[in-house]
Amino acid sequence: MKTAVTILAENTAPIPSLIGEYGFAALIEVDNYRILFDTGSAEALFKNAKAMGIDLGAVDAVVISHGHFDHTGGLINYLKQYGPRPVYAHSGIFAHRPLPMRGGDYRDIGCGFSREELAAAGGIFHWQDDFGSIAPAIYLSGAVPRNNSFEDTGGNFKMVIDGKLQDDPLVDDSALIIDHPDGLIIVSGCAHSGIVNIIEHACRKTNRRQVLAFIGGTHLMNASRERMEKTITALQSLTISRIIVSHCTGFYAASQLYQALGKRVSKGETGMRFEF
Ligand SMILES: [Fe+2]
Ligand SMILES: [Fe+2]
Repeated sequence: MKTAVTILAENTAPIPSLIGEYGFAALIEVDNYRILFDTGSAEALFKNAKAMGIDLGAVDAVVISHGHFDHTGGLINYLKQYGPRPVYAHSGIFAHRPLPMRGGDYRDIGCGFSREELAAAGGIFHWQDDFGSIAPAIYLSGAVPRNNSFEDTGGNFKMVIDGKLQDDPLVDDSALIIDHPDGLIIVSGCAHSGIVNIIEHACRKTNRRQVLAFIGGTHLMNASRERMEKTITALQSLTISRIIVSHCTGFYAASQLYQALGKRVSKGETGMRFEF
């Protein structure tokens, strides 16, 4: 099995021909099957793919990790530009998500498009609320059980249910899991379920212990000292070869992971390609 993960949109861009954008998008190739995993906030996906000579029209399916704007922002333009595609996601991605701002205002950080608008643009939705396969050896986690009490969504996220503002557990947060012969490759958007919860869920569901790589956002940017210590202890107890942190990880969390886990930890930035 030949697998490659290429980061098309991420907060930082290490070379001048690419642009950084708050959010995440990656092209995942498993042999001849191509997945667009998330779509960034707006335009970086398209500009960077063009600059890198990547044909987004060759994508077989789109996977959306969760309904935040910085992962769904390019979806409608992708569908309009490249035509109908299967879109795999948890059915909760359209939740109404006002984020409390300083001064008492709210900013909606949910998906900026309705299901109807996306369907009209060519989105053929496949809801994956539980763990399941989307192609041979490729799985979507579905809702991830929150078994570790030291992990949380990573922010003061809110959602509206029946007209009332409530805590948002980001139940739609999903990771892509590739069952590679040498170990699992797990790709995450923001890891609002918790990086350790996600890895443990992936191992349990696939009956594997070896993890080749975790790649993507970890949302540890606001993590407490206690959470970081417990996360590091848990990661040290897992059999994981590489942790490639991106997007919402934060400098200090990335530094602590690097200090504790050494060269197994690296940064995943716009344009980087990882092959397995
Ligand atoms: Fe994010
Ligand atoms: Fe998010």
